[in-house]
This record gives sequence, C-alpha cells and structure tokens, in this order.
Amino acid sequence: MRIVGTGSYLPETKLSNDDLSQLVDTNDEWIATRTGIRSRHVVTDENTSDLAVGAARVAMADAGIAAATIDLLVVATSTPDVFIPGVAHQVLKGLGISQAMVFDVNAACTGFVYALDVAVSLMQAHGYRHALVIGAEVMSKIVDWNDRNTCVLFGDGAGAVVLEQAEMSGVLYRSCTAIPDRDDVLLSGGVAVNNPVYAVAQGDFFLDMKGQDVFKFAVRVVGESVHAALSETGMSVEDVDYYVLHQANRRILEYVAKKLKVPVEKFYSTIADTGNTSAASIPITLDRMKREGLLVRGMKVMLVGFGAGLTYGAMLIEW
Ligand code: ACO
Repeated sequence: MRIVGTGSYLPETKLSNDDLSQLVDTNDEWIATRTGIRSRHVVTDENTSDLAVGAARVAMADAGIAAATIDLLVVATSTPDVFIPGVAHQVLKGLGISQAMVFDVNAACTGFVYALDVAVSLMQAHGYRHALVIGAEVMSKIVDWNDRNTCVLFGDGAGAVVLEQAEMSGVLYRSCTAIPDRDDVLLSGGVAVNNPVYAVAQGDFFLDMKGQDVFKFAVRVVGESVHAALSETGMSVEDVDYYVLHQANRRILEYVAKKLKVPVEKFYSTIADTGNTSAASIPITLDRMKREGLLVRGMKVMLVGFGAGLTYGAMLIEW
C-alpha cells in the first residue's frame, strides 16, 4: 500500500484571534503563545460531507485516478452531518462513485490514523485497488462559542489521501489503541435517550476539556508511540524524515520534539491557520507538505494521533 495522492479543503470563512476576542475575553497574544493558533476556518453553508468531498476531489486529481477505481471509502469524523447515513456514504454520492465499501470511523482526533489502519487491513484482505481515506470535521458545530477555554482551539476542515495497492508496502508499522479510564478529559454531549418508556433531559452538545490533562496525556503517548514504532522497525529517531502529529497545539509538538531530541523543523505544523481540526489535521498537514515539495519518495514519515476516549495511534510509512 502506498499513498499516491493527497488533498485538503478548508471552508472560505476565517476567524482570527482578534475576531474571537470580540466574542469572549481573550486576545491574540494569549492564544498564540499557548497554542500557536492565529486563525481558523469555519463553515457557513457547508457541512462535514461537503468538506470531505472537496478534499477527496483534490486527492484523486493529485493521484491521477478516476472515481470509478475507488473500492473503499473511509471517513474519520466525530462531527457527521447526520446520524444516518454516514458521511462516507454522502461522499460516495458526491463523487459520483457507483459502488464501493463505505463507512465512518469515530476515534476523535485519532480518527485518521485509525481509518488508515483499517483501510490498509481491508485492502490487504480484499485486494482492493484504491482506497480513499478522509478526515473531515465541522468542529464549530460542537464548540461552545461562549467558552474561551475551548472555542479558541478548534477549526473546520478536511484532508484526504488515496491509497493504492503496491507490491512493496509503504506501511512499515501501525498500531492503534485506547485507554478507558480518562473519558472525562475530553468529551462532548449527544442526543439523550427518549422513548415511550424512558426519557432523559437533553443536555448540550458542547465540547468540554481538561486542557492540562490532555497535554500530559498527549506528550506521554506520542513519545511512547514513537519509541514503539522505532523499536519494532529497528530505526532511530534520526531515520525519520518527518513527524506528522495531530495538530492539537503547537506546544505539544515542541515539547515532544525536545523530549525526542529531534529538531522541531521535522514536526511540520499547520495549526497556525487551521486551529485543531481533529481527525482532519493529519491529512491536511500531509497535503500541505506534499504541495510544498517536502515529501519525496523513500522518505520515512511518522504519523501520530491522540484524542478523546482516550485514543491514540501511530503509523510509520515510507512515502
Ligand atoms: N484567553 C485568555 N485566557 C484564557 C483562555 C483564553 N482563550 N482560556 C483560558 N484562559 C484562562 C483561564 O481561565 C485561566 O484563568 P484563571 O487563572 O484566572 O483561572 C488561565 O487562562 C489559565 O488556564 P489554564 O487552563 O490553566 O491554561 P493553560 O496554561 O493550561 O493553557 C491550554 C490552556 C492551551 C488549553 C493548555 O492546557 C494546553 O495546551 N492543553 C492541551 C490541550 C489541547 O491542546 N487541546 C486540544 C484539543 S484536544 C485534542 O485535540 C486531543
């Protein structure tokens, strides 16, 4: 399996830190120094599937393949347009693909790494030619725009990759996992139970986060994941050309770089103008790197995701 195309799509409307300071008691200096974020994109009349279709079109054009050759379509998202059908099904329709295996994966901000892992397994099992793996989120739907602790962090967007069956697999290592006992650290509400025999008062959908706990969790599991990948593949931290982490916070990237003793330049970051786009952040980052000519065949690229659940996962690929 190889990644043969990348794409991304960000909604047109941008909100700067100064714009947010009109909504809540915050300022550009506080946000930028603690997170590295200067602005983020938010949807107006689009939803998650529209962003996913936009990113998928760019990725397919980049790969030079027709929609008809897609056998598998997986969308990582925590913010679907509707419960039923899944975003992947809406993308199938949006791209005009007549038939494929399609489904969504929800592993929060780790979703893209989970989706890639599942797609690789399914391609191996079924011999599929091409898979589209997309991370797409409209985080602005579940953000409380009155809560300065969270509203400054997130943005909307989508990223996609095309995977192609190849004799020599570019996937050198993959691992996805989760721990059960810290689901209070990062969560959002859902639809309450409501049926003829039982009903619960409806809460809200908003994201709630214990920022410092997330920070500690993230830097611990990213370090552990990188070391596990290197030990299994017999490689060293220097052998990896780029570390593409979930873009939650610039300080997490800097902390991990320092801990691993790797120059921070190897941790490419898109967070300054996207904010945290959850499952979309890794493919958006890969796409930008590809467009800047940074990704060259043969390079080793380490993807690491972490997020609510708590979930985390890593994949080491040869580009
Ligand atoms: N503007 C101004 N002040 C703020 C803001 C804001 N946007 N948000 C919080 N504050 C205030 C708090 O109210 C608090 O004030 P107080 O001391 O008067 O009570 C003060 O700043 C410090 O708050 P902390 O939460 O302790 O701030 P901290 O230094 O920990 O920074 C942050 C918060 C940036 C979220 C940090 O904890 C962090 O980096 N955490 C990682 C979490 C993360 O990146 N989450 C992303 C989503 S999760 C994911 O993707 C997996």
